[in-house]
Amino acid sequence: MARDLPALLAALPKAELHVHIEGTLEPEMIFALARRNGVSLPYASVEELRKAYAFTDLQSFLDIYYAGASVLLKEQDFQDMAMAYFERAAADNVVRAEIFFDPQTHTARGVSMETVISGLHGACVQARQRWGISADLILCFLRHLSEEEALATLDAALPWRQHFIGVGLDSSEVGHPPVKFARVFERARALGLHVVAHAGEEGPPEYIWQALDILKAERIDHGVQAVNDPALMQRLAKERIPLTVCPLSNLKLCVFPDLREHNLPALLDAGLCATINSDDPAYFGGYINDNFVQTFAATGMTREHAVQLARNSIEASFAPDAEKDLWLRKIDRLIEEGSG
Ligand code: ADE
Ligand code: ZN
Repeated sequence: MARDLPALLAALPKAELHVHIEGTLEPEMIFALARRNGVSLPYASVEELRKAYAFTDLQSFLDIYYAGASVLLKEQDFQDMAMAYFERAAADNVVRAEIFFDPQTHTARGVSMETVISGLHGACVQARQRWGISADLILCFLRHLSEEEALATLDAALPWRQHFIGVGLDSSEVGHPPVKFARVFERARALGLHVVAHAGEEGPPEYIWQALDILKAERIDHGVQAVNDPALMQRLAKERIPLTVCPLSNLKLCVFPDLREHNLPALLDAGLCATINSDDPAYFGGYINDNFVQTFAATGMTREHAVQLARNSIEASFAPDAEKDLWLRKIDRLIEEGSG
């Protein structure tokens, strides 16, 4: 008997390509780490902190998100945070995770690059052993800071070059166009790193063009503003440049007033390689399967969309081809069994 749609969404093997590991810090863990590390928080309780999660735009979220990350001091903290994420991801049938981290948020507080990367890398190794999840790290530059600081951050990370597969660009978008980071992305590409960039979350389609033409981004994170530019839509479809879309994030940051108005179905129906991801699940009310289930319920997308999204996520990932083939065959088997 065929599964119902929510069961199919849960069962599909999927890749998560847009999750900020600092955005997986649940309020309970923020308080536990604050106690463990003797850090004082400007909130009296978990409940009070959760109540502050009422965002009006990207910046109103980022202010709280950076404050939450202040409890991370030791290698074990980074490892514990990432292991908690992987446990949730495994329950959602995530077979591949490409995880963003923001080293500048931590090095600015005196935490060493080694502490950050070693803790996160340790968790990636354990995720494979414990849950069979294939996981890699993507180092993000904070775009509200200067390109010189991004270049220094890349240099500081090079002793651990083998522990991350790419670089990304995140934080406050409007006023910080991709062109600001042309040199550091060129350097990253010369080092053989993959390159991705947040663009068109709140910013205009012009930022997506810049991410493609100047940074040579292989994927666009968010990219939902592309619908306002037909020529850009055609290019994204023709070149199959993936968009890592995060519906609950877009809802909570008021990019769309209602999930029913999210443009994910339009992106898919225009032939784009769109994917579903969680962005900062501890802050936006749901992990990857919650994003799938709530978006499908709101938009009326079909089983065909579900299978397409799972396939897109595998296609868009930077995993080795052998692993991708294996996961695509798993999706085929799920459909053939009739359970799809
Ligand atoms: N950092 C964490 N989440 C982000 C988002 N949604 N946009 C930009 N930077 C971020
Ligand atoms: Zn993001």
